[in-house]
Amino acid sequence: MNLPKSVSIVEVGPRDGLQNEAGFVPTEQKIKLIELLSETGLERIEITSFVHPKAIPQLQDSEEVVKRIKNKPGVVYSTLVPNEKGLERALAAGVKEIALFVSASETHNQKNVRMSIVDSLKGFRNIAVKALAHGIRVRGYVVTVFGCPYEGRIAPEKVEFIINEYKMLGVHEVALGDTTGMANPVQVSRMVERIKPQLGKMSLALHFHDTRGAALANVLAALQQGVTTFDGSIGGLGGCPYAPGASGNVATEDLVNMMEEMGIETRVDVERLIDCAKYARMIIQKDLPGHLIRAGRVCWGGT
Ligand code: COA
Ligand code: ZN
Repeated sequence: MNLPKSVSIVEVGPRDGLQNEAGFVPTEQKIKLIELLSETGLERIEITSFVHPKAIPQLQDSEEVVKRIKNKPGVVYSTLVPNEKGLERALAAGVKEIALFVSASETHNQKNVRMSIVDSLKGFRNIAVKALAHGIRVRGYVVTVFGCPYEGRIAPEKVEFIINEYKMLGVHEVALGDTTGMANPVQVSRMVERIKPQLGKMSLALHFHDTRGAALANVLAALQQGVTTFDGSIGGLGGCPYAPGASGNVATEDLVNMMEEMGIETRVDVERLIDCAKYARMIIQKDLPGHLIRAGRVCWGGT
């Protein structure tokens, strides 16, 4: 099997996960979760978003979260930003990386940010210029890449168009999102093969939701295409409030465990991740879909 020697994992649970929780998780507990995640070896954590507090009330404490977390050296903490107002808030809070997001589906973009795709991208120009001038790295999400709950199939040209815009903006990494878990491994393999030559200097990350149980199979397909950055959400927390039926990302601990069992280095401690998943389960007060939280690691020593 053609596999990379090591991969990077981006934890998105505190943002993508908690934004979809019915209740508001107290700021103190969000901070504790982020600080626990920072002790697992993870080098990148998306911690919150500077979107409209009415759109995502669960993350209305983003300023406080960014300012109050203990920054662990070597960990990059990033926040989601939808528009210039979001960037201003992120700058004032002192973030070092932001993530922009646009949907490959016109309908989903309208529902998510009340703008057309073209208007989202136009808005990104100023944001990227300002962010880069402040030494802030910019990640660019393309969401609903592999299918949209409103529009169904998405033409790959739409994804390529957005990728090219991101390239011109100086984005350091494109993250392709399967927002409602519609992807299958063949589709993933074809998409990655197709867009790889167009990335220029940008790296590529994949962001799979496990809505239909195919997330780890999709990860494997992407690994075989040479992708080395994957998003995960602790315990499998998450979803998207503007995408009906969306469930959480692949659980970070399941993702890391599969890599390590396959001999692919992650530099992340699975046992510590499981402890984080248990903490996440405690603060949201409901069961989480991750597997390792129940099964634990494989025990090769026997009993
Ligand atoms: N943070 C805080 N307030 C914001 C804001 C931001 N990022 N962007 C706009 N606002 C405020 C404006 O200042 C304005 O306030 P005012 O009425 O007091 O003057 C008001 O919101 C309306 O501004 P407008 O630009 O018309 O925004 P909108 O109402 O069309 O909302 C978004 C657009 C993008 C801000 C909103 O849809 C949003 O936050 N969506 C996030 C969706 C999301 O996070 N989805 C999950 C990720 S997949
Ligand atoms: Zn997501």
